[in-house]
Amino acid sequence: MSTAPLVAFSGISKTFGGVHAVENVSLDLNPGEVLGLLGHNGAGKSTLIKILSGVYPPDAGEIRLSGSPVNIRSTRDAKALGIETIYQNLALSENLDSVANLFLGREITNRFGFMDDEAMEEAARTSLDRMKLRLPSLSKLVASLSGGQRQAVAIARAVHFNARVLIMDEPTAALGPEETAKVGALIRELASQGIGIILISHDIHDVFDLADRLAVMRHGKVVGTTRTADVSKDEVLAMIIAGTLPAGMARRDH
Ligand SMILES: Nc1ncnc2c1ncn2[C@@H]1O[C@H](COP(=O)(O)OP(=O)(O)O)[C@@H](O)[C@H]1O
Ligand SMILES: [Mg+2]
Repeated sequence: MSTAPLVAFSGISKTFGGVHAVENVSLDLNPGEVLGLLGHNGAGKSTLIKILSGVYPPDAGEIRLSGSPVNIRSTRDAKALGIETIYQNLALSENLDSVANLFLGREITNRFGFMDDEAMEEAARTSLDRMKLRLPSLSKLVASLSGGQRQAVAIARAVHFNARVLIMDEPTAALGPEETAKVGALIRELASQGIGIILISHDIHDVFDLADRLAVMRHGKVVGTTRTADVSKDEVLAMIIAGTLPAGMARRDH
């Protein structure tokens, strides 16, 4: 069995003008792991994940997937490698139903080149079942779904096409407690199937109960990474705010 991380960032740097958005970041994501990526606004979280999802090329550093170096030059490259990103706005089409949203831009066509609605509905059901996900009706317009259901459709769309890595930007920030719990259960289910998940948040409360491990960024650098079980929320807050590590945690020199 391979012990290589699913994703390994190594010495990743990115500057915009004179700003070091990301500076010499090394970080691992393991298969089946939920990693919380924390830090204040401007810490470099989005820039780091945009490098993984093919939005920006890094100025320096290397990304390995399951041990092999990869050159991700576009979002298309990233998707082909099984790296899917869900941004905060979800990018769903409000006036289409769940099935249509699932297949947006990647529709199944029959041998005559027409859209195969039956095949898409069938595939959508299989995909949702795999995630143990229930939606009231697949033919309801997305505009009429609740926040949690919309998030579920966005997640289903991302993982339907064989995602190995799922990146989510503030996935539960806009949800109430009940829906947050449901989306949390869905995230844990996907992780149990071996998908590696990065949850980005500026708020420790959004990810603390969900993440196996936490990585804190500050001024473009990783302050430290820790298993969630080994720290308190206050200790993580100190990492986020002041860049101070809990007693006994080794500081990273890069
Ligand atoms: N496209 C860009 N052009 C110029 N500066 C940027 C760009 N994207 C991010 N930055 C800067 O890089 C730094 C890190 O930003 P970002 O990665 O968005 O942080 P976070 O997601 O943690 O809030 C900030 O100083 C931000 O202003
Ligand atoms: Mg951001």
